Amino acid sequence: MSRTAILIVAAGKGERSGRAGPKQYELLAGQPMLRRAVDAFAGWPVRVVIGPGQEALYRQAMGSAAPHPVIGGARRQDSVRLGLEAMAADAPDYVLIHDAARPLVSRITIEAVIGALEKGADGAVPMVPVADTLRRREGKTWVTVPREGLERAQTPQGFPFAAILKAHRDHAKAEATDDVAIAELAGLAVEAVTGEETNLKVTTEKDFVLAERLLGSFDGRSAGATLPETRSAMGYDAHRFTQGDHIWLCGVKVPHDHGLEGHSDADAGLHALTDALLGTIGAGDIGQHFPPTDERWRGAPSWKFLDHAAGLVKAKGGEILHCDVTLICERPKIGPYREAMRARIAEILLLAVDRVSVKATTTEGMGYTGRREGLAAQAIATVRLT
Ligand code: CTP
Ligand code: MG
Repeated sequence: MSRTAILIVAAGKGERSGRAGPKQYELLAGQPMLRRAVDAFAGWPVRVVIGPGQEALYRQAMGSAAPHPVIGGARRQDSVRLGLEAMAADAPDYVLIHDAARPLVSRITIEAVIGALEKGADGAVPMVPVADTLRRREGKTWVTVPREGLERAQTPQGFPFAAILKAHRDHAKAEATDDVAIAELAGLAVEAVTGEETNLKVTTEKDFVLAERLLGSFDGRSAGATLPETRSAMGYDAHRFTQGDHIWLCGVKVPHDHGLEGHSDADAGLHALTDALLGTIGAGDIGQHFPPTDERWRGAPSWKFLDHAAGLVKAKGGEILHCDVTLICERPKIGPYREAMRARIAEILLLAVDRVSVKATTTEGMGYTGRREGLAAQAIATVRLT
């Protein structure tokens, strides 16, 4: 089995991006661009070349599992050469050199490049045809350039490791914008494989928007609009059984041979869901908003708490997408009330019923719910914030 390793160059300053910091550390649909590029090669050993002084940004973007970085140079080709030198001690058979600025590279492209190398190519590069008519500026006018035969080169560009290291060493003084250009100076025969338009190089601010759209997290509004963000949060609550002939669960009155103890109506289902909603906007918990010491909430119907939390989410620009409640008890049986509970929650939250889920489980006689000392509920809510 031949061994392939990945070299990702991320030592640039990203000056054309219009961002304050280097573009590769900027978030792309919630994740640093560099991290997306590295994750695209999951399963292969990856080395990353970063710029001098970018160590803290790198650690922050990559987390604790980050491979030890190599420090790059002034030009892209210097960064590549330094990265290859750092890999030489434990040299792989093949190396794929990739730009951190192409975070959308697919497995199909990666495997096509490796496939060409394994068939014996001196190098392999994903190429895409040029569809637009090309013109070159000449002074104040433009001259149309024949498009015939022109294609665009992307990364990852793959090579036998020893050959590309030697080429970079021998041609360190030449000017080249990619590694195929260096390989050609060394007389290597580089093969083209089919590239993908989606493997775009994030260069300007508009490319960020396009990349996010391709990642499916852009809702189609005009370029530059703030990205919507999806958040989920959980809630949990438990109440003790006491004397009584009914309980309130998920806003529905359920006849039972016990009641539930609590300052309000003790609706553990709605309390868990209220906490979940508060969690999506980091707004504390139900006890902070409705202290049990406050006489106003004695015996209060819990839909008021849920309604309040939903109002806070809305005030933050949030839209509730979905919620799911699990009730944990031996008795009462929830099944007969499940649809009424979904409908009631949907009504309180102004949601379609299919965005509300209510489930139930016993704990097989174990624990406090199993001993029927009380019941518990957990919930998760998902909201979109814009
Ligand atoms: N790169 C590098 N070392 C350099 C210059 C660039 O490792 N001295 C990397 C970049 O981080 C990027 C890739 O090479 O992943 C392609 O370069 P480019 O897209 O031009 O990125 P930047 O040079 O960072 O951007 P700009 O040219 O806009 O400043
Ligand atoms: Mg550059």
